[in-house]
Amino acid sequence: MSKLKIGVSGAPRGASFLAGMHAYGDRAQIVAVYEPDRRARDEFAAEAGVPALEHYDELLERVDAVIVASPQHHHVPQAVAALQRGVHVLSEVPAAVSLEQSRELLAAARASDRVYMMAENYCYSRPNLIVGAMARAGMFGELYFGEGEYLHEMKGWHTDSTGAPTWRHFWQVGRSGNTYPTHSLGPLLQWFDDRVVAVSCVGSGRHTDVEHEIDDTVVFSARTSRQALVRIRLDLLSNRPHLMDYYSLQGTEGAYEAPRATGQEPRVYVLGKSPSERWQSLDEYGDLLPSRYLEVAEGAGHWGADSFPVRDFIDAVQEGTPPPIDIYSALDMTLPGLVSEASFYQAGAWVAVPNPRLWDAGVGTEPGREAPLA
Ligand SMILES: NC(=O)c1ccc[n+]([C@@H]2O[C@H](COP(=O)([O-])OP(=O)(O)OC[C@H]3O[C@@H](n4cnc5c(N)ncnc54)[C@H](O)[C@@H]3O)[C@@H](O)[C@H]2O)c1
Repeated sequence: MSKLKIGVSGAPRGASFLAGMHAYGDRAQIVAVYEPDRRARDEFAAEAGVPALEHYDELLERVDAVIVASPQHHHVPQAVAALQRGVHVLSEVPAAVSLEQSRELLAAARASDRVYMMAENYCYSRPNLIVGAMARAGMFGELYFGEGEYLHEMKGWHTDSTGAPTWRHFWQVGRSGNTYPTHSLGPLLQWFDDRVVAVSCVGSGRHTDVEHEIDDTVVFSARTSRQALVRIRLDLLSNRPHLMDYYSLQGTEGAYEAPRATGQEPRVYVLGKSPSERWQSLDEYGDLLPSRYLEVAEGAGHWGADSFPVRDFIDAVQEGTPPPIDIYSALDMTLPGLVSEASFYQAGAWVAVPNPRLWDAGVGTEPGREAPLA
């Protein structure tokens, strides 16, 4: 089988895919980078030993697949252009920045026979993979509550060294609601094997850095199609050490709690297995980690999780295995954040989240149980 030729769009985040690419170098290789900023472009080209291109179209001409690691509002235009040219897409998170973009992306993915996958790397951290395996094995019983939090003080990222606003100034903190939901929601939706049907979003008000439109802390409650309750918190401004991967899970027969602070361990309680009223270390269930995620690529960021989306993507393209985060899962992880903005500006009113599987019919939301919430 010939090596998959992969292009990268957006050098800084794109570089974090290099470790994964080295690990799977016998099957695929990065052949070029597109990046408008000369310095970032040259740095990537030097590190990866590939040509740096000034035009995205030129990149698409040279590759079988593209990693879209550009600023968030470029994900859809670049993914759509690639799919329309027969180029497979591995997109950074979130999949889209508006409902209109989400529809456009869905239409392009449906019209194409190429793979679309979203690289939600937090779904691939070791604790999250083990909890997923336990959930699938029914060890927590029926799941009915989950939490996810992404708390990351990023004030220094909203302007560049000259004080000019970066893309994050508008797309992450220049509007309110949850503007970055997929790290927190993605693993939960995989554990629940479900999608969100409605959200209610409120915020703490603006206190730390009132220049920005987003509230310091934004929380949405979400109802899933099987009536589970999920709570997602985003905080990009508050002064505190970061905590980007907090999760909890509750089922009829067990619970999971991620660490809240350095030095703590992920822990689980499984009825009938754990000592009465006592947590166990999640590591005691480490043998449930799916074997394909045992070996972390050297240098892979985000606890080693950054390399696995690339591997699953290469498998999907070369072996035809379904991408674990396909267009529907990607939108299921993205749309609740977009809808949370509408809810936020309606003082937390419950707003229905479209089911992209039904967009064909022009309906948009499932009729039925969630309707009274909308
Ligand atoms: N999954 C994760 O853990 C994770 C972590 C960081 C960033 N991200 C995502 O990666 C993307 C990039 O984030 P970043 O931290 O690298 O941002 P960044 O601000 O550090 O870099 C963005 C780069 O994109 C370039 N750029 C601007 N317009 C472009 C275009 N049209 N096409 C290609 N490149 C363009 C800029 O010149 C800049 O070099 C975002 O979508 C972000 O959400 C994901």
